[in-house]
Amino acid sequence: MTTFYVTTPIYYANSLPHLGHLYTMIVADLVARSKRQQGIETFFLTGTDEHGINIERAAKLNNRTPQEQADYVVGYFKKMTAAFGLDTAHGGYDIFMRTTEPFHSEGVSELWRRAARAKTPKGRDAIYKGHYEGWFCAPCAAYKTEDEYAKPVDPEEPPTCLIHETKLDRVSEESYFFRLSDYDQALLGLYEARTDFVQPDARRNEVRSFVRDGLQDLSVSRVRSSVSWGVPVPDDPNHTMYVWFDALSNYITAVGFGNEQQERAIGFEKFWPALHVVGKDILRFHAVYWPAFLMAAGVKLPRAVVAHGMWVDPAGRKMSKTLGNTIELDVLNQYFAIDAIRYFCLREMVFGQDGRFGYENLIDRTNSDLASGLGNLSSRTLTMIQRYCEGRVPSGNISEEARLLAKRAGVDTDEASIAGSLAHARDEFLRHFESFAFSRALEEAWAIVARVDKMISEAKPWDLAKEPAQEQTLHAVLYRAAETLRWLSVLLYPVMPNAMREIYSQLGLTEDLAKLDPRQLKWAGLPEGTQIGEVKGIFPRLDKAKIMDEIKSSGPTAGQGSAPSDLQGTSPTVSKDSAGSGQHATEADAVQNKSGDGLIEITDFAKVDLRVGEVRTAARIPKADKLLLLTVDIGEEQPRQILAGIAQYYEPEQLVGRKIVVVANLKPRKLRGYESQGMLLAASVGEEGKPVIATFAEDVPNGARLK
Ligand code: MSP
Repeated sequence: MTTFYVTTPIYYANSLPHLGHLYTMIVADLVARSKRQQGIETFFLTGTDEHGINIERAAKLNNRTPQEQADYVVGYFKKMTAAFGLDTAHGGYDIFMRTTEPFHSEGVSELWRRAARAKTPKGRDAIYKGHYEGWFCAPCAAYKTEDEYAKPVDPEEPPTCLIHETKLDRVSEESYFFRLSDYDQALLGLYEARTDFVQPDARRNEVRSFVRDGLQDLSVSRVRSSVSWGVPVPDDPNHTMYVWFDALSNYITAVGFGNEQQERAIGFEKFWPALHVVGKDILRFHAVYWPAFLMAAGVKLPRAVVAHGMWVDPAGRKMSKTLGNTIELDVLNQYFAIDAIRYFCLREMVFGQDGRFGYENLIDRTNSDLASGLGNLSSRTLTMIQRYCEGRVPSGNISEEARLLAKRAGVDTDEASIAGSLAHARDEFLRHFESFAFSRALEEAWAIVARVDKMISEAKPWDLAKEPAQEQTLHAVLYRAAETLRWLSVLLYPVMPNAMREIYSQLGLTEDLAKLDPRQLKWAGLPEGTQIGEVKGIFPRLDKAKIMDEIKSSGPTAGQGSAPSDLQGTSPTVSKDSAGSGQHATEADAVQNKSGDGLIEITDFAKVDLRVGEVRTAARIPKADKLLLLTVDIGEEQPRQILAGIAQYYEPEQLVGRKIVVVANLKPRKLRGYESQGMLLAASVGEEGKPVIATFAEDVPNGARLK
C-alpha cells in the first residue's frame, strides 16, 4: 500500500457542527496521521454537503441565498477545524470539499451519465424515469418507509421522522429512479467476498440483513420546481439530482473523477478507493446505495465503510441540532485542551456503539488518565532526570557487579522483560487500532503507564539517589521510564499530536513524530546522554467544580443544551428541552423521566416565575461579543441586571423601552464577572437558533405575572 485515502462524511451546510461532527473528524484525522507515520502517502477529505432542500430552507430562514448560507457554515467549519487542529495547517485534512465546486458538478454529471448508460446485473436500465409518492424527511433528505416514521395520533396529520421527530412531507412527483432492486445479489456477494467492506461486524450484519430483506428502487431526482438548489440531471434540466447521489459522489470528484484539473492536482487513479468513516446513521447510504451506484457506473468500490456509533444525550437520544441537545464546539474549545477531547472521545466511546457525553466524565478522565496518569509519569520521570542525572538521559545498563544491589532494591535486572512487554503492548495497541477498537488500544497503552508508574514507586528513585552504590540502579529505572515515554509519544501521536510532541521534545528529541512509525520502534533507541528539554506540565488538572459551574452558567448552549453555539452566553431561548441553563435542562429531564410521557404537572410549571419587564438600559460587554448587559424593570424597587446571549442579533438601542418576558426566580449566576439576575425569553428560529425576543402586542404593566 503506497497511498491511502480516508474520508469523513461531508456535513450538511444548513447548521453549525457539534461534537458529533467533530468526533468523525477526529477519527478520520487519527487514521490519516497513523498512515502518514507509516510513510504512506495519505489523502484526508472532509467538507460540506451544500445542495438540497434543507440548505434552501435554512437559507430562507436566515435571509440568505443558499450559497451565502453554505459559505457562512463553511466559514464556521473552517474556523472550528483550525481551532481543533484538524485543518491542513495542523497536519489534518488535505481537502475541504464543497459540493458547490464546479469541478464537482462536472464529475457527478459524468457519474450519472455512466450509470444512466449502464445495464443492471439483471440486464435492465440502471436508471429509469417514473413517478414517486412517499413521505420525505427534509432533515434526513430521505424518503421514509413505514418502519422509519411514527404514525400520527390524528390521521389528518403527517407522520413524524423517528430520528428528527419532525413532520414528514408528502411528496408525489416525476422522478428518475435508480434500479437498486437489481443489485441485491451483487451487494450480498460484495459483503461475502470482502468481509471487511463494512466494519465493525455488527454493522456488517445489519447491512446484510437490510439487503437480504429486499431492496426498493431509489428515487434519485427531484423536479426542479420542488428542489432547484442542486446539480441538474444531465440532459434533463427539469430534474435536480437527489442530494445523496450528488453528495456521495464527492468522494471521487474531490480527487479528480470526471475532471482533469482535479485529477492532475490530486489523482483519482492515485488515491481511490477510499476508506469512508461515517456515523451509523448514514451507513445504508454508504454501504448499500453508494457501492450500487459505483457498480452501475463501472467504478472501483470503496476500500471499506467504517461506521461509528452516535453520541447521545442523557435521555439516550442522538445528539443533533434538530433535537436541540448538542454539545457545542465553542464550549469544548473554551474549557478543554484539544488533546484531552480527542483522548476522551476515543477512550470513552466503544467504537461502533453509542456513547453518552458528559462534561463531568471528560473532566474526570482528563484528571485521572492524563493529568495523574501519563502527564504525571512524564513530569516525574523528567524531573528526576533533571535532578539526579544533571538533565541528561542516563545509561540503562546495569553492570554484572551492580546486579545484586539492583535486585536488592527490587529492580528487575533484566531489561529484556520491560522491553518485551512494551513491544507486546505496542503490537496489541496497533492491532486494536487497525480494527478501530481505539478504546481497547488506549487501555493497552495505559496498562504500560501503570506498569512504569509501579516500577518507579517500587524502586523509589528518591531513596536510591541517596546511596551512591545504587547509581546504576537509579539510572536504569529512569532510563526505562524515559524510553517508555519515547515509545508512548510515537504510539500515541495520532491520538494526541500536541501533547506527544511536547513530551517528545521534553525528552530532548527532535525528529518529527508525524513521520515516525511505531512499528519500527526498538528498545534502547533513546540515546544515552541526551540533554532533556525544559520540564513543563503537559495536562493541567482541571478544577471540576469551577468548570462545571461556569459551563452551567454559560447557558443552554453549554449543558446538554438547546441553543446554537453562536448564542453562547446566557440563555436567550426557551427550547423544547429546557427553559434555561444546562442545570434546568437536567431538571426538565428528571421531570420527564418521572412521568415518562414528557408531560409536566401544572405545579411544575407554576415553579417558574415569569414577569413582564421593560428594558431600561442595554449595552455590549467588552470582549464578550455574544452578550448584552441589560437592566430590566420588573416592577421591583430596583431594575434587575440580566445578561443575554443575543448581541449578535440585536443592537442595544433596539431593546431599550421594549417589554419583554423575564424568568424572575432563576438563581443568580455570574458571567464574565457580571451577575445575571434572571433570563429573558426568546423564540429560537431556524437551524441557527436565531433568537427572537418574546414581547406583547398590548400594553402591560411591568411586573405583571405570566400564568
Ligand atoms: N450530508 C450528509 C452526509 C453525506 S456524505 C456523502 C450528512 N450530514 S450530517 O451533517 O448530518 O452529518 C452526519 C454525520 O455527522 C454522521 O454520520 C456522523 O459522522 C456525524 N454525526 C452527527 N451527529 C452525530 C452524533 N450525535 N454522534 C456521532 N456522530 C454524529 O448526513
